[in-house]
Amino acid sequence: MVKKEDLLSTIDKEYLPSHIAIIMDGNGRWAEEKGQERLYGHFHGVESVRNIVEGAAELGIGYLTLYAFSTENWDRPRQEVDGLMGLLVDTIRKEVPILNKNNIRLHVIGDMNMLPAFALEELQEALHLTEGNTGLNLIMALSYSSRWELVNAVKNIGLDVKAGLIDPDQINADTLQQYLSTSKFPDPELMIRTSGEYRISNFLLYQLAYAELYFTNTRWPDFRKENLYEAIVDFQKRERRFGKTGHQIQEGTDVA
Ligand code: IPE
Ligand code: IPE
Ligand code: MG
Repeated sequence: MVKKEDLLSTIDKEYLPSHIAIIMDGNGRWAEEKGQERLYGHFHGVESVRNIVEGAAELGIGYLTLYAFSTENWDRPRQEVDGLMGLLVDTIRKEVPILNKNNIRLHVIGDMNMLPAFALEELQEALHLTEGNTGLNLIMALSYSSRWELVNAVKNIGLDVKAGLIDPDQINADTLQQYLSTSKFPDPELMIRTSGEYRISNFLLYQLAYAELYFTNTRWPDFRKENLYEAIVDFQKRERRFGKTGHQIQEGTDVA
């Protein structure tokens, strides 16, 4: 195993992904493997969130999106959903001073109408309290799904066309981007999923078009800064071609 410091020194600080998105998966199995309730895994997952947010901020990453709860996760057993909501509120309350201390601004994407009132209030308070921070942008995807987001965007574009605010002929990729809940953020360049599942699970389908995908078997509660460094080192070894040829990229002739 490479030491954390060695991994960190391998990272090219000039070529960091500007936006990292993570599907934090495997809490339930991590707990069950230890003979514990699934909520025990979610509880420990918070420690990983703290560690990774700190790691990303230290590196100077601009945007970190964490998939914390999907639209589909509402269909889990009531006890797990309630436990997760409680944990969310508790964590936000505790973390706001730390976010402020580290100049981290909190954002949230997802269907907020689905959240219980107490969770929504706590969240809005945290958004407000961190809105002046200019360091890392921490985006929590909560009650989020990409299909929900795209349907919502199309609905709003339709309304604005009807109101005469946009001309259908002028709609392009930028227009759609502006109607997404991520309109203020660049697309993720690196997407990490933990726990050995090789799927996207309704996460940022449009925005991940050219992201580098990184999958690891590590369960989320075991994921720490060194695992993040490993993912970034892997990212930095890849040739991102965006449809061009490798020769164009290597010769620098991709830039018009
Ligand atoms: C990820 O862990 C956290 C949430 C989806 C809320 P899981 O709860 O999905 O854990 P596994 O995948 O069942 O192990
Ligand atoms: C995706 O994980 C959602 C989050 C990590 C919040 P799931 O565990 O819900 O995804 P599936 O059901 O295995 O695809
Ligand atoms: Mg899962």
